[in-house]
Amino acid sequence: MSQRVEEAKKILLGNRKNGYTLPTNNKLYPAQWNWDSAFIALGYSYFNLDYALEELETLLAGQWDDGMVPHILFHDNDTTYFPNHKTWKCGKNIPSSGITQPPVIASILKIILENHQLNEGQNTRVVQILKKIKKYHDWFIKFRDPKKTGLISILHPWESGYDNSPIWDKPMSNISVDKELNYQRRDLEVSNSEERPLKKDYDRYITIRDQFKEANYDPNKLYDISVFNVVDVGFNSIFLKANKDLLEISKKYDLDFQNLHEFISLNENRLLGLFSKENNNFLSQDLKTKNNLNIPSITNYFSLFADLNNQELNKKLIENLKSHNSNEKYFFSSIDPKHETFNEKRYWRGPVWINCNWLVYQGLKNKDKEYSELLKNKTMELIEEKGFHEYYSCKSGNVMGANNFSWSAALYLDLALEK
Ligand code: SER
Repeated sequence: MSQRVEEAKKILLGNRKNGYTLPTNNKLYPAQWNWDSAFIALGYSYFNLDYALEELETLLAGQWDDGMVPHILFHDNDTTYFPNHKTWKCGKNIPSSGITQPPVIASILKIILENHQLNEGQNTRVVQILKKIKKYHDWFIKFRDPKKTGLISILHPWESGYDNSPIWDKPMSNISVDKELNYQRRDLEVSNSEERPLKKDYDRYITIRDQFKEANYDPNKLYDISVFNVVDVGFNSIFLKANKDLLEISKKYDLDFQNLHEFISLNENRLLGLFSKENNNFLSQDLKTKNNLNIPSITNYFSLFADLNNQELNKKLIENLKSHNSNEKYFFSSIDPKHETFNEKRYWRGPVWINCNWLVYQGLKNKDKEYSELLKNKTMELIEEKGFHEYYSCKSGNVMGANNFSWSAALYLDLALEK
């Protein structure tokens, strides 16, 4: 066990640029990604706490005045990625995309703080980081739940991080694409097309993005005008946990974030309400059509990460989780292989992702020790056998996507070295 620890550190250092870290050393993702960076910071914390804090600081330096932390920051003027900063045209000092990503940063920071005694200078830096995270969370509450329902929306599949998940199939099928749409993908120059989203996905990604650009990325408008508006179980679970964690850390730093209490309890209640007894699982919601979205995605089990205050439900979720991959050697597949939308190779439609395993593992640790240990060992074994890749087949363990993948390395460090 733990035989790849030194290699994992080398991958992070090898992908490190000026104050931030690329998701991989190949050309697929030549910028800083939001949730990647948070996971990466956790990895650094095991051997260089300053790099960990700096990773988060660089990400938060790209925060918009309204509070949003973009899903991509383009620190250098690389244009080999599509869509790059020139096509987003957000007009910010640090060029960025105009949408966000799952806010895991508070939960990551909490783990880092639990593992370390910080010196005065580091604590001062943490206070600044916490204030920015609070502003980010307030942005979600204000602009992604303007009707105060207690559930936040994502307005673009890229915001989820699980871009082409079957969860979005129905909402995306209602988007009409401009026939004149003109763009050139770059991802297929460096990766296998059968492992990437389809052209029809990209057409729709760009259609939504163009709609936002047209509205100048004005957060007061996007929630209503967006052709895509989904309340996702996984995303809300991450946000709920992030708020719980942020509130807890804030007390230690004497910061008054008490107003989060109200949203946390509303969010938790409403999230519990998304569990369908009839279907025996969580359902996301398409707010455009008011339809429920019933897809057996591993991201629904981020609800375990949220530490829902309902032990009976948690037990049921764990029981269901155990059947998600009952026949596969490697787990967890992003989509249950028994489902019609499952695809062994295509990005978020089937492959195993290390960050999903990690989030589910965090949720299992305090609920089912034995199964959490099994998941941890299986995840580490997969990496030890196959290396640090972006994603893997649940059938064969075959590696896919980019190699030297930063979050796979960072989260392996956490699994191998956690206290
Ligand atoms: N994951 C995306 C990509 O494939 C963007 O966030 O480029």
